[in-house]
Amino acid sequence: MVLVSGSGTNLQALLDASGDPAYGARVVAVGADRDGIEGLARAERHGVPVFTLRVADRSDRTAWDAALTTRVASYDPDLVVLAGFLKLTGAQFLARFDGRTVNTHPALLPAFPGMQAPADAVAHGVRVSGATLFVVDAGVDTGPIVAQAAVPVHLDDDAATLHERIKTVERTMLVESVGRMVREGWSIEGRKVRIG
Ligand code: GRF
Repeated sequence: MVLVSGSGTNLQALLDASGDPAYGARVVAVGADRDGIEGLARAERHGVPVFTLRVADRSDRTAWDAALTTRVASYDPDLVVLAGFLKLTGAQFLARFDGRTVNTHPALLPAFPGMQAPADAVAHGVRVSGATLFVVDAGVDTGPIVAQAAVPVHLDDDAATLHERIKTVERTMLVESVGRMVREGWSIEGRKVRIG
């Protein structure tokens, strides 16, 4: 199960990988917090069920979180992948999918959490950045780390060029890690995530 808010290139990489039965994981459904995004179109082209749940259509965040939890649970996913999903999941969602929700972030956490990670990395002048896959907890980009992949930061990078470089390694990292998690299982001890 994958949740998206945008272009869905990470989702596409998972959809492509799942075309090989040996991959062992398949995308059972794709959810979004907004309509009209390429991420939903990619899922529809693959014949994967989609849904949209907009915060604006609910009375408040708690009601939205409850609806999201119920909808995601209806697909009985082994793993929930937040792939460019621009909302924080709430307490109900985390209680239901605790330890089974991963998020991919375009920085080497704990450096540069939040929404502007590539811009923050460029502004800080770091020479290496990358992508982090982590298990979602109640904080913002704070959960136990599953995998990381690094890229160089060039002196003439802006947020867009750095983000594109990060996304090339992010997709590979995501596909490899999700496949291994689903095929081999995983355990979490403190901040350590062990696959297999
Ligand atoms: C990814 O870099 C993700 O880490 C960030 O937003 C981007 C989403 O890209 N949160 P896409 O929608 O998968 O193309």
